[in-house]
Amino acid sequence: MENNSREQWGSKLGFVLAAAGSAVGLGNVWRFPFATGEHGGAAFLFLYLIAVVLIGYPLMVTEISLGRKSRKNPIGTYKNLAPDTPWWLVGGLGVITGFVLLSYYSVIAGWSLSYIFRSLGGFPEGIDAANIMFETHISGLLEPILYHLIFMVITVGVISAGVVKGIQKVVEMLMPVLAILLVAVVFRSVTLEGAREGISFLFRPDFSAVTAKTFLSVIGQSFFTLSLGMGAIITYGSYLSNKDDIPTSSIQIIGADTLLAIISGLAIFPAVFALGFDPGEGPGLVFVTLPAVFAEMPLGGIFGVLFFILLTIAALTSAISLLEVVVAYVIDEKNWPREKAALTVGGVIFLIGLPPILGYSVWSEATTFAGNILDTYDFIANSVMLPLGGALTSIFAGHALGSKNIVEEANKGATSVKIGNWVAPLLRYVIPISVLVVMLFGIYQTIT
Ligand code: PFF
Ligand code: NA
Repeated sequence: MENNSREQWGSKLGFVLAAAGSAVGLGNVWRFPFATGEHGGAAFLFLYLIAVVLIGYPLMVTEISLGRKSRKNPIGTYKNLAPDTPWWLVGGLGVITGFVLLSYYSVIAGWSLSYIFRSLGGFPEGIDAANIMFETHISGLLEPILYHLIFMVITVGVISAGVVKGIQKVVEMLMPVLAILLVAVVFRSVTLEGAREGISFLFRPDFSAVTAKTFLSVIGQSFFTLSLGMGAIITYGSYLSNKDDIPTSSIQIIGADTLLAIISGLAIFPAVFALGFDPGEGPGLVFVTLPAVFAEMPLGGIFGVLFFILLTIAALTSAISLLEVVVAYVIDEKNWPREKAALTVGGVIFLIGLPPILGYSVWSEATTFAGNILDTYDFIANSVMLPLGGALTSIFAGHALGSKNIVEEANKGATSVKIGNWVAPLLRYVIPISVLVVMLFGIYQTIT
């Protein structure tokens, strides 16, 4: 059944900016640099680029096409395209992933938000002091909860306003700001004395740092950073018109995301190396190492503020896409008004985000093989649910629906680049097999 009242993006650029806004986020500025730092610099980048071409691009085209074809949320998409089959469960997995992912994504975004105000007051000198500051902040209760709440309230506000008046308006305003801020921070970083070493770290591969876990990290990063594997792009694709060009838009979205990841590396590593810090800090790289860097560099206070504003904006344009997945489901299938859906779902996600916060203080005893509660949420979402969702989407498109249908939908409205039958073997075999093997092996490695 055609839903004539469904909103559509107000312009071609609106969709590309919204999808790029979804893609560019903590995954680029927070996760990509620390994963690169842990897994051999350019070696990680190299493997990641291969995954983007073989897995990222075909799945980006597939998810947008599925959304435009069905004009529904992820669950509705499978119900619509494969009625009376259990395939809707893949959409269900995506909606659940939206809950889990956004709940801790917002906690980390909240740290970033609070760091804007901390940088205004100036960062203490030395890595130990920076460490203490971070530990004190995340193990507090009131502040992390407050900033998580503020971030969720803003996200709910944007989604309540609608696809065009909310999402599109906000990304059109914020994405240019994000780009300008990033360029300013990169300029500061690469002009520091000794920045060279950081640049070559990003572009000279150290394959000795590559282990089995590196591959899981690469696969997880590819899905996470491109917003694939949970139906966020299906949802955004459902608001796309038949005149829009899917193959070219996909290249633009992926290009923007990859460029932003590399530029974030260029903003962070030169500064880290120039001031003699360790690039392999892990998740603390952005919240511990960078503040220590800002404390020592000329005009560091100002650049600290700019950097954390940038990180928070990037997180917001991604968070709205995560919330939209669940909200679109509730609107489509339960017929709730948008405001009610956004507020209720946002409230539940806020609550699911509380355990990860408590895991840094009163519940710090609660740990798993993956680490504390937030690490565990992250492992489940990033290393299990997204790859699993991506592999199943690929199997659905390649076998159940048939890649012919994807190719046909994707090429509607395509002008220059067209999708050929080469996607068939990728969707049918290459993506599901490689993703599932890496996922199972990586999980095994992590558990044992
Ligand atoms: N792509 C976002 C990032 O790189 O931070 C995270 C994300 C957003 C993942 C939306 C999944 C998603 F559906
Ligand atoms: Na990203």
